[in-house]
Amino acid sequence: MIKKAIIPAAGLGTRVLPASKSVPKEMLNIVDKPAIHYIVEEAVKAGITDILIITNRGKGVIEDYFDHSFELEAALAKSGKSEILDELIGIPEMANIYYIRQKETRGLGDAVLRAKEFVGNDPFAVLYGDDVIVGETPAIKELIDAYEQYSKCVVGIKEVTKEQVLKYCSLAVEKIDDTTYNVLDMIEKPKESEILSLFAILGRCVLTSDIFGILENTPLGAGGELQLTDAMRTKTLKDGMIGVDFSGTRYDMGNKLGMMKASVEVALSHKEIGQEFKEYLKEIAKKL
Ligand code: UTP
Repeated sequence: MIKKAIIPAAGLGTRVLPASKSVPKEMLNIVDKPAIHYIVEEAVKAGITDILIITNRGKGVIEDYFDHSFELEAALAKSGKSEILDELIGIPEMANIYYIRQKETRGLGDAVLRAKEFVGNDPFAVLYGDDVIVGETPAIKELIDAYEQYSKCVVGIKEVTKEQVLKYCSLAVEKIDDTTYNVLDMIEKPKESEILSLFAILGRCVLTSDIFGILENTPLGAGGELQLTDAMRTKTLKDGMIGVDFSGTRYDMGNKLGMMKASVEVALSHKEIGQEFKEYLKEIAKKL
């Protein structure tokens, strides 16, 4: 059973500036909750009990969000707003949440390396703090199931456009079934001539603790950063890796269009505003 997860949330978020100047991109709103709330919720639904969030300077608001706000809770209790009060009280209770700071922004691989002590010898899940996945089954649960079935590390994958593959990474894969693949090789931010396929890793993985030793011996890669993909490549070539084309839809909260798509989709199925929002969108669409 995988009980531990880490959420790297210490990036600079330069693609969503100026919004991310004082609000971490992981705290940007999707209707009425910050992005990272949906990610913690996904982990908890998949059976995760202990979550380490990797933060940096200025991300104290993340800690405040997952804590009680006694003044607010008292005011809501006094005014009898019990529904929202219950929801607020539930937030700090979702999981045991721990924090560690990445003192320099040296890449996703370096952020993951900060979790070495927390993870110990256990297998663990990684949920990127700016990738929100909406779906019936938690995406990370689909990866955990594959880890249990194949006893290999697992990455969440999807086919993306060529433009996106150049910005993310590219995988060489061999199909096992409709949603499961053997990953044979991978390359971070490939040049056009290096593209292996349009499959890229999107926001989720299940790793074993030997990844930390590999990360410690991985040279800096694309952008002068320690790349998690480079370490996962070493692991893939040594022990193999499974790719799961997860069933949910992934929204990249690290870019402006992704943020907007997430808000629209979540708003459409929101119990309080969904119907009214749909009518509004239909009206707008008529004028486009
Ligand atoms: P990104 O590459 O999307 O983050 O990393 P970024 O550096 O914030 O993006 P831009 O290009 O400047 O807009 C994916 C995830 O890894 C975290 C980010 O917070 C994000 O959730 N990350 C990235 C870290 O925790 N530390 C890092 O050094 C880099």
